[in-house]
Amino acid sequence: MQELKTGGRLVDVVWRPPPIESERLLLRGREPEDAEAIFRYASDPDVTPYMAWEPSRSLADVWDFLDGVTAHNYEQEELDYALALRSAPEVLIGGVGVYWHPKQHRVMELGYVLSKDHWGQGYVPEAARALIQYAFRTTPVARIYAPIFAENSKSRRAAEKIGLRFEGVLRSAVEFRGQRRDEAIYAILRDENERSSERP
Ligand SMILES: CC(C)(COP(=O)(O)OP(=O)(O)OC[C@H]1O[C@@H](n2cnc3c(N)ncnc32)[C@H](O)[C@@H]1OP(=O)(O)O)[C@@H](O)C(=O)NCCC(=O)NCCS
Repeated sequence: MQELKTGGRLVDVVWRPPPIESERLLLRGREPEDAEAIFRYASDPDVTPYMAWEPSRSLADVWDFLDGVTAHNYEQEELDYALALRSAPEVLIGGVGVYWHPKQHRVMELGYVLSKDHWGQGYVPEAARALIQYAFRTTPVARIYAPIFAENSKSRRAAEKIGLRFEGVLRSAVEFRGQRRDEAIYAILRDENERSSERP
């Protein structure tokens, strides 16, 4: 029986990102019931070294994330999604989102993560492609970019499969867990996306 915290800030926020379906996947809003599934990847030492957030040590950390970051994102109506298989919509297997960064320049940052037992099946490229199409269709965004720790070859390959273009490496761009890190930048522009969707 899943331990479920009730009364957190997330349940008071009514807005959720509109669901998006792709061939195999459902992108939907995150809910308190997702906490254990989030904990599975957010505490996995094969996943967290590549993420710009601290690993979860307990379910309490995940509740803080849901009531903090997620609730805030939904208050701001950010396209911040849980990822599930269409065949099991209630089981969260990862996350994907595009976040205004900064909105004033019509730029969004793309982020994604998948639990390890679902790697290697092209799920993140499929989900991110669907989300990028949705974002270009429903918002005025001009540029969507992904900053990726340069040594994260799986994510860099996923970015290529999504259809993002490699723009270069920002050397020593961020400091995280006491270490300077290089960031590889991948991006797609609105007109590139339009040209690629026009191709037969
Ligand atoms: C990066 C990540 C999101 C890719 O998602 P995915 O749905 O597995 O993507 P794909 O199935 O298209 O795989 C992309 C590449 O990862 C590599 N890869 C996938 N599964 C792998 C596995 N089990 N072992 C080793 N490499 C693997 C392959 O190079 C693959 O490219 P290919 O399809 O040309 O062989 C996923 O590996 C992940 O969540 N990693 C940890 C968190 C992370 O790095 N997030 C991104 C932060 S910027």
